[in-house]
Amino acid sequence: MQNDWAGQLLPHAGHRRAVIGDVRGLHPRRALQTIMARGRGLGPIFETQVFRQKFVFASSAALCAELCDEKRFVKALPPALVALREFAGDGLFTAYNDETNWRIAHDLLLPAFAKPAMQRYHAIMLEAVNELFAVLPEDRPVDVASYMTKLTMETIARAAFSHDFGSFTQAETHPFVPAMVTALESGRRLGSLSGMPGAGLPRRRIRRRNADQLTYIDTMLDDLIGARRAALAAGDPGPSDLLRIMLEQAHPETGEQLDDTAIRHQILTFLVAGHETTSGALSLALYFLSAHPEVLAAAQAETDELLGTDPDAQPTYDQVPRFRYLRRVLDETLRLWPTAPAFARSPRQATTLAGYPMRPQDWVIVLIPAVHRDPEAWGEDAEEFDPDRFLPERSRGRPAHSYKPFGTGERACIGRQFALHEAVLVLARLLHRYDLVGDPAYTLRVTERLTLMPEGFELQLRPRVRVPAAGPH
Ligand code: HEM
Repeated sequence: MQNDWAGQLLPHAGHRRAVIGDVRGLHPRRALQTIMARGRGLGPIFETQVFRQKFVFASSAALCAELCDEKRFVKALPPALVALREFAGDGLFTAYNDETNWRIAHDLLLPAFAKPAMQRYHAIMLEAVNELFAVLPEDRPVDVASYMTKLTMETIARAAFSHDFGSFTQAETHPFVPAMVTALESGRRLGSLSGMPGAGLPRRRIRRRNADQLTYIDTMLDDLIGARRAALAAGDPGPSDLLRIMLEQAHPETGEQLDDTAIRHQILTFLVAGHETTSGALSLALYFLSAHPEVLAAAQAETDELLGTDPDAQPTYDQVPRFRYLRRVLDETLRLWPTAPAFARSPRQATTLAGYPMRPQDWVIVLIPAVHRDPEAWGEDAEEFDPDRFLPERSRGRPAHSYKPFGTGERACIGRQFALHEAVLVLARLLHRYDLVGDPAYTLRVTERLTLMPEGFELQLRPRVRVPAAGPH
């Protein structure tokens, strides 16, 4: 058994079969949601076995707080992240804690998310939204997730390495995008084979099928990095982006630099970590807004108050944090459906967790949506969508670490400010400009890719009709 917790049997949902364990009924697109349902009533810690792979889950706010104690626990890499290393190597997201490139990249790139850099990204974000508006059909429902994914992909690609995929300006989809999606999907499938007897053959088949895509992705990025390095050597530093920082700068203390392969891993990491998560958050927020007309009305009123009556008005950088209601909508969306729904932790030294001995080689997955719905921290109405639970007066006194959509500690999300700024800005522009016309018969179905996304969710974005204010006669 992998991750065997010294052979201990933790609470589980029963009906376990020999060889396959608990695999029956674990649909790949709903696995986490099935596990959450199975975990109800099992207490704050429980396990699932998939063939010879044991997964242990922590689902209460109290246990999450314990696991967020950096003195006792560190990030662990469950099979899904290990599989992703075939693609993103020792990039920030998939690096082991002691890998040198993690320290170099983390220390070099942290300033790239501070205010001066964010002001630059603000302009990039606005430009991408304007491109979206230029092509968005206003007379019929559109698949929300697909538009939001294009938008966030364009934004992160321009901020990270000044590349324009032309998602809204070109008729043809850039081949990089489907290649990346296929590579990620293969990574997910490789991860799901972990612990399965006889998985060698399917694993080789997946790798073989994926090889061309990976070569294409690597070559395209290597060419890009090579061209920028050559320009730099010729005295042209190019645009101020994450790529330039990695090409130009050495670690301030050790003097170490990232080589070109490590830089490619980081670029891929930013593309992967920085687009689907935010696009899922935006799509789910739009779902909740369309399903709660009173919330939508309050959010639109806020956009009118801050942006006035011109539908083309663009928020300034300093205005974005002033959309406090929209921010609460987003926070509440990420409470119910944190789009990166899990992170894993291992103890630094042998310890006990919820009474079970745990060793440094064991890991436990924090099931964030379950923590975010723990009635102990969130009350009996924890399943309800209520943005005002994030009002300062209602947040006071809530247990520490009961809200963790961006992970924890040193390995928490480096792009948190970027994501929040982008999501609030995009929602502000959309709601200021459009009414959301949804299908009243739609009920939310959340699909699990690497991240969470609403499935089959369509909206018509209809230009708002503003009644001109009555002027003096
Ligand atoms: C709503 C959007 C986002 C959510 C919910 C989210 C969530 C997370 C979470 C939970 C982690 C920790 C994973 C772990 O412990 O295994 C993480 C790490 C990370 N995120 Fe995000 N993220 C978002 C947006 C972004 C964006 C926009 C970027 C890039 C600009 C980004 C870049 C990263 C990176 C590089 C890491 C790894 C950090 C490290 O280990 O040093 N994320 N994110």
